[in-house]
Amino acid sequence: MAKKGEIVAGVLAPHPPHLVYAENPDQNEPTAECGWETLRWGYERLRKSLSEIDYDVLIVHSPHWRTQVGTHFLGVEKFKSLSVDPIFPNLFRFHYDLTVDVNLAQGIHDEAKGAGLVTEMMTNPDFRVDYGTIVSCHMTNPDWDKPLVGISSNGGARYFNMDVLGATMLKLGEATRKAVEASGKRAVLLASNSLSHRHFTTESEVVEDMSKEHINNHNQYLWDMRMIEMMRSGKGQQVLDVMTDFTEQATAETDGGSLTWLLSALGVPDYPATLHGYGTVIGTGNAVMEWRPGQEARA
Ligand SMILES: [Fe+2]
Repeated sequence: MAKKGEIVAGVLAPHPPHLVYAENPDQNEPTAECGWETLRWGYERLRKSLSEIDYDVLIVHSPHWRTQVGTHFLGVEKFKSLSVDPIFPNLFRFHYDLTVDVNLAQGIHDEAKGAGLVTEMMTNPDFRVDYGTIVSCHMTNPDWDKPLVGISSNGGARYFNMDVLGATMLKLGEATRKAVEASGKRAVLLASNSLSHRHFTTESEVVEDMSKEHINNHNQYLWDMRMIEMMRSGKGQQVLDVMTDFTEQATAETDGGSLTWLLSALGVPDYPATLHGYGTVIGTGNAVMEWRPGQEARA
């Protein structure tokens, strides 16, 4: 019998393009002096943590690949092009060259379809991969030496409401876990979203001027701290229970469903997540957090 696959880590992996800009990788055209170090050091701690485990593939759910109806999966093995952030073309012009695990993508697609979800494989070789997918993957694995599975988010939270989207994402998470187990592969999952997401609408003259960076408002900060504390204390179900209120009251980027999908795929964790870092980007709240299912058993 084939070896059973497993989700070896789940990560809340936010994607502000400012983080890649401030890292100055060769792939990005603009260059920065510094910026958003608390978050970038958080990603550094995440990378160190993931270097301790073997994994085969990154599976990323992105709020910025928005398919209005249903869930789509990258279905072409190679994508190579230039990704330009539509809001921040001055910060993010990233030349990507990435590999997709199409077999696993198809496996998750088939499981999700079997669970009654509306699904589609995206097979256009000229498709431009979104910056949410690229930033989360780059900050997690800047060597780009692992294939990825790219999953779209949909407009259910706006078209219906957050509860409807949440129910769908719970099914998608379960389908993801089953497909990973059937694949025999070891997967790291990335929920590519900020927490609170009300942001500034003007930019300072020096974009990386950290004297201008702070949370947009106190209400958002309180919500972010509450969510982080629940995740740090293993209250996955409580996070799901307040997800609709959090999303609406903190204008959170969880409206794409990424975090709900992740918690579901992890079997709704009742064990603590590790907080690698928290910081604001143009006023939004961002946490890099990692769950390790079965860590205690392995130790
Ligand atoms: Fe975003």
